[in-house]
Amino acid sequence: MVDADSTRTTGTQKTKIIHVGLGGWGGDWERNAIPPVTEVERVAVVDAHEPTLRKAQAALGLPDELCFTSLTEAAAAVPADGVVVTAPMDFHVPVALEALDAGLHVLVEKPFAGTVAEARTAVERAEELGLVLQVSQNYRFYPGAQKARQLIADGAVGDLSVVHVDFRRWDHDEPADGGYRHYQFPHPLIYDMAIHHFDLLRMTTGREAVSVYAKVTDPPWSRYTEEASAVLVIELEGGLVASYRGSWVSRAPQTHWDGEWTFEGADGYLTLTGRGNGGPADDEVRLGLGGAPAEPVELTTPDLWGRSAGLRQFARAIRGGPAPDVTGRSNLGSVALMEAAATSAASGRVEPVERIGGTTA
Ligand SMILES: NC(=O)c1ccc[n+]([C@@H]2O[C@H](COP(=O)([O-])OP(=O)(O)OC[C@H]3O[C@@H](n4cnc5c(N)ncnc54)[C@H](O)[C@@H]3O)[C@@H](O)[C@H]2O)c1
Repeated sequence: MVDADSTRTTGTQKTKIIHVGLGGWGGDWERNAIPPVTEVERVAVVDAHEPTLRKAQAALGLPDELCFTSLTEAAAAVPADGVVVTAPMDFHVPVALEALDAGLHVLVEKPFAGTVAEARTAVERAEELGLVLQVSQNYRFYPGAQKARQLIADGAVGDLSVVHVDFRRWDHDEPADGGYRHYQFPHPLIYDMAIHHFDLLRMTTGREAVSVYAKVTDPPWSRYTEEASAVLVIELEGGLVASYRGSWVSRAPQTHWDGEWTFEGADGYLTLTGRGNGGPADDEVRLGLGGAPAEPVELTTPDLWGRSAGLRQFARAIRGGPAPDVTGRSNLGSVALMEAAATSAASGRVEPVERIGGTTA
């Protein structure tokens, strides 16, 4: 899908991207996620908040003509192929639509959107325009999650009977005055964190969610406005049930960001953890068959992982290569589970998960 416009990427040139949203995580993309991807050149940066833009400009040593407070201005001034959106969730779809309407491909951070209906507007626009729309579900691109998916698909533990997931972090180091901005996040557990695990659940089992029950379990010491901990029961296609216990306010030992997974099957079980702060080396998969203790499975460290691996897929898709693993459309199933979980946390009832169709790939 190389653009015929000679101002854009051609031949062996790098794929030119405009980066929108240079806050905490956007800054980390600049330092750690974009530089290893040799196929990509970040040609301009955008942040709607002028002081944040100037801070980023100074940190990155960029000239004024590559720094903008709006994507539309940037797209008019700097030839580009695509946009990487690391603004907060509420701006993902509006910025994606702005980019698509400017003829630019889009890679957007998780969570894609707060509702399937909103996410679908961007999916449909991208499809009408024939542009790539990808969601950065970076936890997929780690060796442990990839290996777990492969082993389960290959029948290593036989038919799955149940999946258990535990995720625990705590906020001991955060200011006690309530000043930590994550305390005010909408659905800090379900939208900000569990979306990763919902997406991994679909990926590793190859099944879509059918229904979800979420019981908020916040303790008195939680300083979060909305749910910071919950226990969920998720039913997947074929009657497979997953239990999910997630917490930002746990006092028990912390897990890696993947959490700790157990997949039980007819022939044995498989455990997974990973996405640690130490990179892929923290990933671990173990396989226990026929009642024997689980043994570690060898994992291969890829040359790129996490966000960088997804960004490389984005660049290749723009240049006519295969579609990325996580398109806007294929991510709708994860958004649907997230949305239903938040609805259940509020209603106290089991909620159906909107059926999307398509792929969990
Ligand atoms: N995948 C992960 O592991 C991971 C980790 C952290 C954050 N995130 C995601 O990254 C995104 C950003 O998170 P953050 O913590 O950096 O947020 P942040 O609030 O620190 O930064 C967001 C930045 O976007 C800017 N912005 C907002 N609207 C804009 C617009 N319309 N145009 C241009 N700039 C705009 C803001 O001014 C701000 O500087 C969120 O979607 C979050 O869920 C993902």
